[in-house]
Amino acid sequence: MKFFVDTAHVEDIRAAVRLGVVSGVTTNPSLMAKEGRNPVEVIREIAAIVDGPISAEVIALDTDGMVKEGREWAAVAPQVVVKLPVTADGLAATKILADEGIRVNMTLVFSTNQALLAARAGAAFVSPFIGRLDDIGEDGPALVADIASVFALHGIATQIIAASIRRPLDLTAAARAGADIATVPYRVLLDALKHPLTDAGIARFMADWQAAKQ
Ligand code: G3P
Repeated sequence: MKFFVDTAHVEDIRAAVRLGVVSGVTTNPSLMAKEGRNPVEVIREIAAIVDGPISAEVIALDTDGMVKEGREWAAVAPQVVVKLPVTADGLAATKILADEGIRVNMTLVFSTNQALLAARAGAAFVSPFIGRLDDIGEDGPALVADIASVFALHGIATQIIAASIRRPLDLTAAARAGADIATVPYRVLLDALKHPLTDAGIARFMADWQAAKQ
């Protein structure tokens, strides 16, 4: 499973890339709004840091508007993947953009049918939201596993990005479910790395080493 970092905060992306485990970035209108900057400048800065896919989401909700914005996003940098919500207009826009060779990440996916339709429309990625399903008592990882199973059964190449990841256990669950990618807030990436026994082990090694040098 690959890791993308889920943020529009450039410094977090820079730090995450330095860890050597991140190969892409996802943003969305909420994450971009938090930065209070020109979205195009933000994506340009990210493109100077990350070689892999960078998802930039459209604001338009109608097909023509999505296509217009999608083409504009695709022109910003070759890594840009256009993020579209999985609606009827989003499907139609995905078909048009995919036929033009522009990669699409269909987002806000909450069912296997939505993922199947997105793949059929030509989406390069689908983003099922684990955390928001868990928020309402539904099983987010089970959705990822069902999508992965159906895509494998039918030889569908569309990649699954497990999104809306809030805690380290979501990462593990996404990997067990067969997600191709997990897109993770930088803080959660660091939390996933931590273990108290690792810290205690380092302290013990250092103490033993220092004691032996006396
Ligand atoms: O990539 C989608 C993700 O940013 C949404 O996360 O925590 O707002 O459900 P969350």
